[in-house]
Amino acid sequence: VSGTREMHDQDAFKAGQRALWDASAAAWDKWHDELEAWFAPVNARLLDDADVGPGKRVLDLGTGYGEPALSAVARVGEEGEVVGIDLSQAMLEVARRRAGERANVTFTAGDVETMDLPSGFDAAVSRLGLMFVVDQVATLGAIRAALVPGGILALAAWGPADRHLISQGLAPLIESLDLPEPPADSPTPFSMSDPDRLTATLEAAGFVDVSITEIVVPVLYASTEAFVRFNLDALPSGLLTAIAEKYGAADSPEAWDLVAERVRPHLQPDGTLALPSLALCARAQNPAAGEALG
Ligand SMILES: C[S@@+](CC[C@H](N)C(=O)[O-])C[C@H]1O[C@@H](n2cnc3c(N)ncnc32)[C@H](O)[C@@H]1O
Repeated sequence: VSGTREMHDQDAFKAGQRALWDASAAAWDKWHDELEAWFAPVNARLLDDADVGPGKRVLDLGTGYGEPALSAVARVGEEGEVVGIDLSQAMLEVARRRAGERANVTFTAGDVETMDLPSGFDAAVSRLGLMFVVDQVATLGAIRAALVPGGILALAAWGPADRHLISQGLAPLIESLDLPEPPADSPTPFSMSDPDRLTATLEAAGFVDVSITEIVVPVLYASTEAFVRFNLDALPSGLLTAIAEKYGAADSPEAWDLVAERVRPHLQPDGTLALPSLALCARAQNPAAGEALG
């Protein structure tokens, strides 16, 4: 019985994830240029760590609107190939549109946790996509099996919540809503935020030579109002409904003044709002052929 309940919980979680990311695809598309400016150092790190270069075959897990897949395409050239996988069809539609006529990239809908992954990749990358899987060791093991011997996984995940100034800024508003706690074991954006645990998880999945680098994502909004607009575009609809129910409207000044007050220390002299947030970039290797699994 408990197995059946776990299955239902997981199905419900995945359905929720799919709906959440489908609903936020338009916002990610709209804010693409800002997001890509912030995440440029993470993309560079992931593609360097994974040794993505001409002729390589690269798998991108949780590619969303197509990053870092599309940045990888520019590196692998016509002889290489990039495959992006995501749970959300709406995100993938944006990715496909952004890919345009490029022939060496394909985007496939699927749950990285349960699908049969294609194989034979030199590198796997993921930017903020793998924190949302339920069974990290099993999923990372399947990703390892999709790599050639000696192939590299480079993934980025958010670091600890207290170093994530975006969510710190939202905290007083979210806390004021008295929302029910999600189940303790359900994945969150911070499910890979402990470097020691992430290292142990990658090793348990059979990877070797694991290293983790901290990168501060230089999140910068044009103003506090821009931060509010971003959240009104991108927050899950359930959260916006809860704000509307408590404050009369999702964009209620009373609600967002709580946020403006919290982020005020991060306002820059030119009026921009800097909310630097820590990401962990992990690099791990599939053992080379003949290398003993430790
Ligand atoms: C924070 S977004 C990151 C998207 C993109 N990599 C980027 O950095 O712009 C997380 C993405 O992971 C996807 N995702 C979450 N769980 C997944 C799963 N189990 N399998 C495939 N994709 C998943 C979501 O649909 C979403 O597009």
